[in-house]
Amino acid sequence: MTFGAAILDRVARLGRHSDSPGHYTRTYLTPAHRAAAREIAQWMEEAGMRARLDAVGSVIGRYEGAEPGAKTLLVGSHFDSVRNGGKYDGVLGILVPIACVAELSRRGERLAVALEVAAFSDEEGARFHTSFLASRAFIGRFDPAALERRDADGVSLAEAMRAAGLDPAKAAAARVDPATLAAYVEVHIEQGPVLLDSGHALGVVTSIAAGLRHTVRVRGEAGHAGTVPMPRRHDALAAAAEMVLAIEKRCSVPGNALVGTVGILKVKDGSSNVIPGEVEFTVDMRASDGRTHLAAQEDVFAECAAIARRRGVALDHTKTHEVKAVPCAPRLQDAIARAIGRATGGEAPRLPSGAGHDAMVLAEVTDVGMMFVRCGAGGVSHNPAETVSAQDADAAVRALLEFLRNFSTTPA
Ligand code: GLV
Ligand code: MN
Ligand code: MN
Repeated sequence: MTFGAAILDRVARLGRHSDSPGHYTRTYLTPAHRAAAREIAQWMEEAGMRARLDAVGSVIGRYEGAEPGAKTLLVGSHFDSVRNGGKYDGVLGILVPIACVAELSRRGERLAVALEVAAFSDEEGARFHTSFLASRAFIGRFDPAALERRDADGVSLAEAMRAAGLDPAKAAAARVDPATLAAYVEVHIEQGPVLLDSGHALGVVTSIAAGLRHTVRVRGEAGHAGTVPMPRRHDALAAAAEMVLAIEKRCSVPGNALVGTVGILKVKDGSSNVIPGEVEFTVDMRASDGRTHLAAQEDVFAECAAIARRRGVALDHTKTHEVKAVPCAPRLQDAIARAIGRATGGEAPRLPSGAGHDAMVLAEVTDVGMMFVRCGAGGVSHNPAETVSAQDADAAVRALLEFLRNFSTTPA
């Protein structure tokens, strides 16, 4: 089997570890998530690594370098998913480096650095609204306040950790000394159509867009759907609907690298014969630069406040997530571009990432680089139709192998 076919086979096998049958959802510390962790650890061991489970359930595999005491090159991504997501998001960036280590180990090759493959346990944060929990813990930024967060069934993060055999009081032990790291590199499905449209299997990421999330609460007045005259209503859902459209409009400025999404909208005690009294929704906004992002955030909430005043409803919002835009290190961009060139014989396009990645967190402590792999099916992601071809997965393994063999801690 080629590297690519073997990776697709493993993607399919990991895809069976899902929280709900019939679609692919793997959220933090569920039985499916823990089963996936065990299978990843087993593949790491088979590839010639020593695998360990860290204090927040990430699986870290280590392949020693040629010399003891060398720095560690960290390569990885996440193995949790969004609800009903795509099977390649995150997982590809774990399976590609595992395949590389298996090949190095089979040939008895050691690198100039120690190599660690990180399978981060929680990046999407779909269960507890805890985006980047695992990579944050890895760099020593685990937030103990997150332990109180509850999932949709009322289970707290601390309870979920205990049920998974993890000690919430020891989550901070996931920290790795950043001084031991040479760099962090992440391979990821592009999750967009740029490489597909330009006809390239692989690309080099230049930067990762800033991200921001708020939870918005709109409180109106519940009432009888049959008796309250329309002009007297304070319908929280109608107000929220107007806000959703205002967000879409503000983020649709042409030529602006700004996007905005309302991904969750809940009507409290919703019934077909009750005027909605309370609505909660989320806003996710991304932009390639901080100033655009900040201006959009201010405008969006000023407009929501104006809508709330006009409709006589109360509005409050809480920021739940914020990450700054992150540039990928030029030396790693160049090294990844050279590796792609050698592996594929073609030039490597450079492109920014609109999606968030664990690399954004690792960038706080070390240089980061990213390689994108072409996304099939029109470039769709966070969608079960998400796909990667065996040929492109194969190219990713060959390019990452080139990168690893030539990686040096001293600038070229
Ligand atoms: C991660 O998938 C993100 O939300 O960008
Ligand atoms: Mn994702
Ligand atoms: Mn991802």
